[in-house]
Amino acid sequence: MADLTQPWTIRDVVIPSRIVLAPMAGVSVQAFRRQGRRFGAGLVCSEMVSAAGLAHANERTLGYLRIARDEHPLAVQIFGSEPARMAEAAQMVVDAGADIVDINFGCPVRKVTKTGAGASALSDHGLACRLAGAVVDAVDVPISVKMRRGIDNGSRDALELGPRLEAVGVATLTIHPRSAKQMYTGTADHTLTAELVERVAVPVIASGDIVDRASAERVLDETGAAAVMVGRGAQGQPWTLQEMAERGADRPEPAEVVAELIRFMREVEREMGDRATSFLRKFYGWYLRGMADAKSVKPELTSAPTIAAAEEALLRFYPGARARLAEHEAELALLPDTDSDRLLDLPISIYGGG
Ligand SMILES: Cc1cc2nc3c(=O)[nH]c(=O)nc-3n(C[C@H](O)[C@H](O)[C@H](O)COP(=O)(O)O)c2cc1C
Repeated sequence: MADLTQPWTIRDVVIPSRIVLAPMAGVSVQAFRRQGRRFGAGLVCSEMVSAAGLAHANERTLGYLRIARDEHPLAVQIFGSEPARMAEAAQMVVDAGADIVDINFGCPVRKVTKTGAGASALSDHGLACRLAGAVVDAVDVPISVKMRRGIDNGSRDALELGPRLEAVGVATLTIHPRSAKQMYTGTADHTLTAELVERVAVPVIASGDIVDRASAERVLDETGAAAVMVGRGAQGQPWTLQEMAERGADRPEPAEVVAELIRFMREVEREMGDRATSFLRKFYGWYLRGMADAKSVKPELTSAPTIAAAEEALLRFYPGARARLAEHEAELALLPDTDSDRLLDLPISIYGGG
């Protein structure tokens, strides 16, 4: 049986568990990545940053990437369609502290694929290899590539492309075995993951529909992948990671959930300032899912003008969270301040996906 707590390596980067936190645009901010590490993820990944910067017409940015001292090992994901620009972006990402540079060949969103970036590389293997090769040559850290199975339903493109990427020096491959056309419908077909593992010598990370320890162990056992990646299952539910990392972790009490949510809110505010209020709205439902009083408190949270007002509402509904929050506060006081963060001058794309 697979052991999710076993360390492994991507070249010389030691990953302390088999659990990888997925890159998710609009979700994988620094606070989310740090939380993932605290709950047992061995590797965390940033949202995708655009190598082309603001060159795409109409591209809006969600802000710039912030990297803290205490989130390593960290992969930073880049996307683009020009090898020279990708090489330059990789150098910036490594200068800012990335331990691994991840390339996005999975984003199915048309605004991205029409530029030749994201999933479109799955049907142009020559371009994919030129992009990956340029990045491999530009930096000393290991390069990973995250891809879908292909563009069209039933495609097996990733199985052809994987060995070619390995040949240009890519150190690890993540596969989300849905097609780009599928977006997030249907299920991830991990028989493809197993086939990819057979075809390459580098470690493979399996992404898609891994939501608890049972599914994580099953996918590792059935595919021979080195690690699993958890995305939607960890949104507002870091305990999913804990359940995988520590056998038998209990579902948290409401007071624990609320204290963790408040900690997360404070960290997001520290990271984003005023933008935190709107950014956090989608997280409230994710955290409070299934909890008593969630229906009453949620409208107050989503309409709260400040993070402090949202906190006040949470503590009014769940006063039991105060004691646990005090323990979090003691830990938070030990975090390095924002002055030590590295700010990367590459915009985070609003069109994430993969
Ligand atoms: C909201 C959202 C944003 C995502 N953004 C990215 C991204 O920026 N880069 C990427 O490679 N994958 C992205 N993905 C795909 C995930 O990393 C993951 O491969 C996919 O969600 C399947 O895993 P899951 O079933 O555990 O969620 C995103 C997924 C979601 C739900």
